[in-house]
Amino acid sequence: MQTDAQAVEPELHSRPGQSQAIIDPPGPPANLLGFLSFLVFGSPRDLTRIYMDLAREYGDVVRMRAGAWQFYFVSHPDYVQHVLQGNNHNYGRQSAFNEVVKQVFGNGLITSEGEVWRRRRRLAQPAFHRRQIENFATTMVDETTAMLERWARVQRADKPFDVMAEMQDLATMIVGRALFSTDLSATDTDEMRQWSRITLEYLSRCTRRPLSLPLWVPTPANRRLQKAVRLSDERVFSIIRKRRKKTALNTDGPEDLLGMLLAARDEETGEGLNDQELRDEVTTFIGAGNETTAVTLAWAWYLLSKHPEAGRKLHAELDAVLGGHTPSAADLPQLPYTRMIIEETMRLYPAAWAIGRGIVADDVIGRFKIQKGGMMIVSPYVTHRRSDIWDNPEGFEPERFTPERVAERPRYAYFPFGGGPRQCIGNTFALMEAQLVLATVGQKYRLNLVPGCTVEPDPIFTLRPNRPVMMTLQPR
Ligand code: HEM
Repeated sequence: MQTDAQAVEPELHSRPGQSQAIIDPPGPPANLLGFLSFLVFGSPRDLTRIYMDLAREYGDVVRMRAGAWQFYFVSHPDYVQHVLQGNNHNYGRQSAFNEVVKQVFGNGLITSEGEVWRRRRRLAQPAFHRRQIENFATTMVDETTAMLERWARVQRADKPFDVMAEMQDLATMIVGRALFSTDLSATDTDEMRQWSRITLEYLSRCTRRPLSLPLWVPTPANRRLQKAVRLSDERVFSIIRKRRKKTALNTDGPEDLLGMLLAARDEETGEGLNDQELRDEVTTFIGAGNETTAVTLAWAWYLLSKHPEAGRKLHAELDAVLGGHTPSAADLPQLPYTRMIIEETMRLYPAAWAIGRGIVADDVIGRFKIQKGGMMIVSPYVTHRRSDIWDNPEGFEPERFTPERVAERPRYAYFPFGGGPRQCIGNTFALMEAQLVLATVGQKYRLNLVPGCTVEPDPIFTLRPNRPVMMTLQPR
């Protein structure tokens, strides 16, 4: 796959057949009433469908208006590249939603901008290098094996279970152990699960209904969130303080993400992260890392059960390569089909289904005028289903991700992890985790969707299944 460094900014202003006149992009008529009702009553549940229809009806660049508010939506890979990479300085973080996210994650990597963000990214990046992430492979497999032991009991009872809830618990455990290794007690993990659930509910509510009451108004939901954040902060700060003491005593701390963040020093200033900054990053990694990976895995199991032929190929690969031994990071290059299943799952159901940016200054995309002050939206969900790029876009075909076929497509035809400087820092972690979980579980079981269980994607904060994904286990 072409990397961001290799990707070249496409020639945006001279696509064949286009006149040079710069005009406003097409789009639906201004709809203030619809927008106000969205602010008060919330967004419709079929948002992904609405974006698909907008792209189909109006093309590569769409403008939506509501009074003075302007929203732009681009779906052509060249234009996505322009927004996320080529002219990324013009598409920033400032938005009402970013302020909401800050209330939970503080000023961490996801929410910060400018010099603050650059320094944080420089400090955190080494902890996410592939070699470092490989150290977490054993944790990923151990936690999956512990889950399988619990599942063995479920299977005896032959009781259907919600695979989304299971993947959520598993991903929380994995990111928790990767961050804090042995400093994480059973109470901490329960609290982390609670914190993740309550935070997600809160962020989903704010995504759906932007005019929710601000956090300082003591509604039951706001109080629940504040309590969860307070409890989580107490734990995180206490672990950080203990670790600092160990470091001061020259006792080697564990080689986990927290350890690496504690040891990180800015090359220019020699300074590290203070406790508040560490808290913000740790909280960001828990928040950004577990739901997204869990959603991806839940959809992968769903798709595999709907496509038994792909399931058979997966099992054949696992049997041939692993021959019954526990998977490790070293096996991953020999498990290309397992990886392609994950990639194809993220094409059809990208957990981060839409990415928003605030427009800093006027711009031109194609022959269209983009005005400052509005919001720019790109959607992996929509671009991943463009019929001019993908044959049979709605079909599940992991073979699309052979290296040869990837090389034939534009870089931004596929961007489940975003792109440009703000590309997901956890992408290697997430891919490794998803592959190892699929391999460890797939070696032992087939997962079958309970007949009659239908699920649709629910485009809230992430692209979750809209109801429990009920499955049964079939030992292999
Ligand atoms: C399948 C799993 C995942 C998906 C689909 C995903 C997706 C994304 C996307 C699309 C972005 C870019 C957002 C934007 O441009 O506004 C992003 C950013 C980010 N992700 Fe992930 N992510 C995943 C897993 C993880 C994991 C496991 C971690 C950490 C352990 C993580 C941490 C982050 C952070 C810190 C950022 C902000 C990076 C920055 O702005 O510098 N993500 N993720």
